[in-house]
Amino acid sequence: MLPLDIKEEFVKIWDMALPYQDKRDDKGHARIVTEYAIKLCSIENAEDKIVVPAAILHDIGWSQLSKKDRFVIFRPDKTPEMEYAVRIKHQDEGVKLAEKILNKVGYPSIFLKSILEIISQHDTRKNFLSNEDGAMRDADKLWRYTKVGFDADLRSRECSFEFYYKRLEDFIGKENFFYFDSARDIAMKELMDRKEDCSDRIDIM
Ligand SMILES: [Fe+2]
Ligand SMILES: [Fe+2]
Repeated sequence: MLPLDIKEEFVKIWDMALPYQDKRDDKGHARIVTEYAIKLCSIENAEDKIVVPAAILHDIGWSQLSKKDRFVIFRPDKTPEMEYAVRIKHQDEGVKLAEKILNKVGYPSIFLKSILEIISQHDTRKNFLSNEDGAMRDADKLWRYTKVGFDADLRSRECSFEFYYKRLEDFIGKENFFYFDSARDIAMKELMDRKEDCSDRIDIM
């Protein structure tokens, strides 16, 4: 795999966060979300000094939860309350750890509040706060549409290709799922590729 292509100002954050990344059988999540965050910043002219650190750090809070809690959301017997509780917990833990990392690398304090605010409700906020919030959270959702993310979710959720494909397709048109049309376009393109990946075994189209 090629090294992650990020600006020098974000390298220390990436390196410090690395031991806390991808804790839910989702190897590549942090990297793919960060790459899409960079791409959306350039397409949509969002402030990368906010979006990129938020993307790098958004899910490090999972590392502070027990293994049982980390995998609650994939359990077929989960209740909405159980899922909500762990999502809140990983956000709260993420904010604490992100603040420590940003302070340790001496990141400009003017951006801290916005970065931490995005992380604090990146999975549970109903609406979008800003272009930066939209860019980070769209990048997070785009992970599900990539081959790596799609395959990881199929494994964790134990559902069929057809079921999950349709679910992702429906999400694209859902209000308040994606913020930017550019993210919707990327998601559509990725889904076409997923269809290609499985063209020999699907008949859903
Ligand atoms: Fe998250
Ligand atoms: Fe995430």
